[in-house]
Amino acid sequence: MRQATLHQLQILEAIARHGSFTRAAEELELTQPTVSQQIKRLTETIGMPLFEQLGKQIYLTAAGNQVLSASAVISEKFAELEIAIDELKGLKQGKINLVASTTAKYFVPRLLGTFRRKHPEIELALHITNQEGVLARLARNQDDLYFTGRPPSDLDIELRPILDNPLVVVAPSNHPLAGKTNIAVKELATEPFIFREAGSGTRLVVENFLAENRVAVDVVIELSSNEAIKQAIAGGLGLSVLSQHSLDLETQNGLLTILNVEGFPIQRHWYVIYPTGKQLSVAAQTFLDFSIAQGKQIIEQFSADLIPR
Ligand code: PGA
Repeated sequence: MRQATLHQLQILEAIARHGSFTRAAEELELTQPTVSQQIKRLTETIGMPLFEQLGKQIYLTAAGNQVLSASAVISEKFAELEIAIDELKGLKQGKINLVASTTAKYFVPRLLGTFRRKHPEIELALHITNQEGVLARLARNQDDLYFTGRPPSDLDIELRPILDNPLVVVAPSNHPLAGKTNIAVKELATEPFIFREAGSGTRLVVENFLAENRVAVDVVIELSSNEAIKQAIAGGLGLSVLSQHSLDLETQNGLLTILNVEGFPIQRHWYVIYPTGKQLSVAAQTFLDFSIAQGKQIIEQFSADLIPR
C-alpha cells in the first residue's frame, strides 16, 4: 500500500469526481496515457480493480471507494499540516485559494492590490466560475474562501456579508425606454431578453423575479459571460439584468444605460463564505478579516473614482 503516491490518489479523486479519465486529465493538465498509467500502477499496488465501466459510465469499485475515502483523509491531514507549519512559523504567509462567481469577479480582484501591499508574502490564487461551480467547489472543500451572491441552503457554512449587490435592467443608451421613470415590469415582456447560462446565480434571481411578477420574456440568447452580454446589449440584441457592479465602465462611458423598471434594483448581497468547521489558515483568516473590515470601502471608492468630477 505504501507504494501508492499522493499524485495517484489525486488522479483517482479527479476521475471519480468527473466520471471520466479524459476530463480528469484535462483538469490536472496531464495527458490521458499518464492518467491511465498512474491508475494502472495504483491498481497493481492495491491488487484489485479500482474502476469498472458499465456502458459508457465509469464507476468506482468497492476497493476504489475505500481508496477514495483514505485519500480524502490524507488530503485533509496535509491541509492541516500546512496550517500547523504556517502557525509554527508564526508568519502570515502561504497561499490563499479564493473562488469568486463570474459576477463577483467584478469586485473581488479590486481587493487584491490593497491586500497584497499589506501582505506581500502571501501568495494569492483566484478561481472564477459561475455560482453552481462555486457551490460545487465549496461542497468539496476545495479552496479557502468563496465569494458569491447566493449562499447554499443545503450546506453548513459560515457566512459574512461584504456589500450590497443591486441587480438592474440594462439597455443600450439609445433604447426608447432610456430615461423613462417607473417603467412597468410588464413592458419587459415585449423586449428581447438575454439570459445568463443555467447555473448562474444572477439568472436564478431573474427567473424568480419574473415568475413572481408573472412576466414571460422572450429569451433570444443565453450567454455565459457578463462581458459578452454587455456587448450584445450594446449591439442591440436585447435587454438583460446584471449586477450593477459589472457596469461601472459602460454606464460611465455612455455605452449602456440602466432602465428605471418597477421592482428594480433587485437588492442582493455579496458574501464571503466557507464551510462550518473548516480550519482557516492564518493567511486565509487574514484575508477574511481584511475583506470584512475594508472590502466595502475599497470597492465603493473604486467605483467613485470612475465618476468624472
Ligand atoms: P453568477 O453569480 O455569475 O453565477 O450569476 C452570481 C452569484 O454569485 O450570485
